[in-house]
Amino acid sequence: MKKIYFFALSVLLLVMTSAQANRQLAVRNGCMACHADTEYDAPPWPELAAKYAQYQGQPDAARIQGEKLRKGKLFNNIKAHRKLTTNNASELMQWIIDGAQ
Ligand code: HEC
Repeated sequence: MKKIYFFALSVLLLVMTSAQANRQLAVRNGCMACHADTEYDAPPWPELAAKYAQYQGQPDAARIQGEKLRKGKLFNNIKAHRKLTTNNASELMQWIIDGAQ
């Protein structure tokens, strides 16, 4: 019984730390300046999460959407979007697809 609790706890911690890690990535890349602050026109995280939830379960979606974001043309050429590396962009898109918690 104890083993099961321990296992459940480790899974929970793992999920929590990885969610935290991606939020940190968003913080480090300056995404919060616009998407977490209502003064700006950028859609807030819950809105983006709702929009991108359609990509859940599609293995390539985060990479494809991340590239779209990075290439900038679609979304007004925002510098913070264009500065992202391929890996960071797809990691952040995955975070958004998973609900941006
Ligand atoms: C300078 C302000 C600003 C910063 C910083 C910023 N964004 Fe944005 N972002 C916007 C605006 C404004 C839009 C909406 C553009 C539009 O709808 O044409 C947008 C759109 C988006 C979209 C797409 C929305 C859609 O319509 O599909 C995503 C995803 C996104 N941002 C993620 C991020 C991430 C991840 C970061 C951090 C690297 C970030 N943004 C940093 C302003 C910003």
